[in-house]
Amino acid sequence: MARKMKAVQVKQAKGPLEVVERDVPEPGPGQVLIAVDACGVCHSDAITKEGWMPVQYPRVPGHEVVGRIDKAGPGVTAWKAGQHVGVGWHGGHCGQCPACRVGDFVTCDFQQICGISYDGGYAEYMLAPQEALARVPDGMKSEDAAPLLCAGVTTFNSLRNMGAKPGSLVAVQGIGGLGHLAIQFARKLGYRTVAISRGADKRKLAEELGAHEYIDTEKGDVGKALQALGGARVIMMTASSSSLAAAMIGGLGRDGVLLLLGAGTEPIPVTSLQLIMKRQRIQGWPSGIPQDSQDTLDFSVLTGVRSQNEVFPLARAGEAFERMMGNHARFRVVLKMR
Ligand SMILES: NC(=O)c1ccc[n+]([C@@H]2O[C@H](COP(=O)([O-])OP(=O)(O)OC[C@H]3O[C@@H](n4cnc5c(N)ncnc54)[C@H](OP(=O)(O)O)[C@@H]3O)[C@@H](O)[C@H]2O)c1
Ligand SMILES: [Zn+2]
Repeated sequence: MARKMKAVQVKQAKGPLEVVERDVPEPGPGQVLIAVDACGVCHSDAITKEGWMPVQYPRVPGHEVVGRIDKAGPGVTAWKAGQHVGVGWHGGHCGQCPACRVGDFVTCDFQQICGISYDGGYAEYMLAPQEALARVPDGMKSEDAAPLLCAGVTTFNSLRNMGAKPGSLVAVQGIGGLGHLAIQFARKLGYRTVAISRGADKRKLAEELGAHEYIDTEKGDVGKALQALGGARVIMMTASSSSLAAAMIGGLGRDGVLLLLGAGTEPIPVTSLQLIMKRQRIQGWPSGIPQDSQDTLDFSVLTGVRSQNEVFPLARAGEAFERMMGNHARFRVVLKMR
């Protein structure tokens, strides 16, 4: 008889997160079954909940998944039962398309997304393709590792690829799940780190996370404030406000990059003239592949970067999600299954 598990699913776009009982699935060829310990709640889980991308329902969200391999399916050679592993947003790739042929798995034409293409980590068990797994460093707790698999890798991996050097001025806008890790990474990577938030509430928290400077967007022009610090080499935006993005462009310095991580559909008003003279650009960045996740986990152990979590049981996933969406979480909400 099949084992039973609890999962939290969305039955249809815009529907509630509901707790259901399901059979524990069997891993197919190339898959592993993970007994999930913890799963972070990311703002991007709203894509599954609200149906902002094509999703086949019912669907279990969650792409910051950490647990132990319960069983490896046929043909799995790289992993075995008992290993401590994680899966992030990048939930698998085809290995055949033009991007994969040159090893650029993150832009795979047939990329699978954990919690969107297949059921994710808001559950006691989850199936994943073997190429989607990262190894969790020895001694790291599952709830500490989980947020590093999306919020962590997205900020660390994008920052380390922007061309900033130690001492460069790097600003992080929005101090939420992504932002609070980004501030820590920026500081540990040796950048002069600026935290940008709305209001004065988060100043002390930002400084504790390692920010050298703090800018309150409700107190004057953020672009001018950044120029007063010398102009930013990188401004990472974790919110998707296009009006704020437009204001941020004024804060870029020479070769400055406006790095867009917060996903939105509103156009950003900008002219080529604004960008040409100081060779500036606007760039997006999608998370990373499992090796990037592993690098993020290892760098976090090495430097003491740690997600600050509010832990909820799986049965309270709906409440946990609303807490994150309402910007009340300090800073990442994590579901704990066992
Ligand atoms: N590119 C990728 O690969 C990737 C990966 C993960 C997530 N994401 C996206 O990144 C974004 C952040 O995710 P998250 O999990 O960190 O979310 P989060 O915990 O909710 O944090 C977002 C932060 O943005 C700020 N913010 C929210 N609304 C704002 C507004 N209208 N204007 C200005 N600032 C605002 C808030 O910070 P303050 O209170 O400090 O202002 C908030 O804490 C989401 O859009 C998510 O979908 C993208
Ligand atoms: Zn995410």
